[in-house]
Amino acid sequence: MSSDLPSPCPVVVAQNLVKSYAPARRGGTETVVLSGIDMTVGPGEFVAIVGPSGSGKSTLLSCLAGLEPPTGGHVLLLGEDPAKLSRGRLARLRRSGVGFVFQSFNLIPSLSARENVALPARLSGRRVRLADVTAALAAVGLENRGSHRPGELSGGQQQRVAIARVLAARPRVVFADEPTGALDGAAGTAVLGLLTEAARTGSAVVLVTHDLDAAARADRVIVLRDGAVHGELRAPVAADIFAAVHGDPAGALR
Ligand SMILES: Nc1ncnc2c1ncn2[C@@H]1O[C@H](COP(=O)(O)OP(=O)(O)O)[C@@H](O)[C@H]1O
Ligand SMILES: [Mg+2]
Repeated sequence: MSSDLPSPCPVVVAQNLVKSYAPARRGGTETVVLSGIDMTVGPGEFVAIVGPSGSGKSTLLSCLAGLEPPTGGHVLLLGEDPAKLSRGRLARLRRSGVGFVFQSFNLIPSLSARENVALPARLSGRRVRLADVTAALAAVGLENRGSHRPGELSGGQQQRVAIARVLAARPRVVFADEPTGALDGAAGTAVLGLLTEAARTGSAVVLVTHDLDAAARADRVIVLRDGAVHGELRAPVAADIFAAVHGDPAGALR
């Protein structure tokens, strides 16, 4: 392979990303949550972010996705700096190119599965074809649950509706924060399979998880500790990730 081929434009870039919170009371100390993160996610890449509870994973994801403004440094999301966009342009960028999957599913309870899947397209004023919605539900194995409301579905099924909603929009990047956190093993495995498939078919995936087996499905794993990148692993097995997170010698685990 020639080294002078242009490298594809990254979908997410963080440069010296800092996030801190002002003291809750006068005279208190500021909380530094992210202390200078550099990372890049390429098109179609599946990147997992792991680290102990409180290490800053959710905060990092929120900053990368343009949901939280950084205190310092820069983020580029699909080539744009969210901090420099108007609220309207940022909302449009998110609607057209970004998908979110949260631990709590975030479905609209009063809407059917089909209506939930169609919602992002409706909100951005696009025509929604029933065939596309049906295909998205079929892709997550829920073709016969389209008229059910979230309350009539199991947790695993609700998360699959949330993923169908993301897939129907064909985003260039999917951000997922502990998407399997509220699911049992089999339902969690199904959800991870769908995220892996999304990455295989062209969406970049940024997955925050404390599940090391889930992280081991990623092309690359970024290990956070105390708000800084502690290490980065390519195509690791779960034992390598455990060692990197907990600082134990990998050899002792095998
Ligand atoms: N709004 C906030 N104000 C002050 N501190 C916060 C706020 N949000 C998060 N934090 C702190 O940031 C740290 C990292 O939180 P978080 O990103 O949720 O970690 P993780 O997802 O890795 O468990 C925690 O110590 C948390 O208390
Ligand atoms: Mg978190």
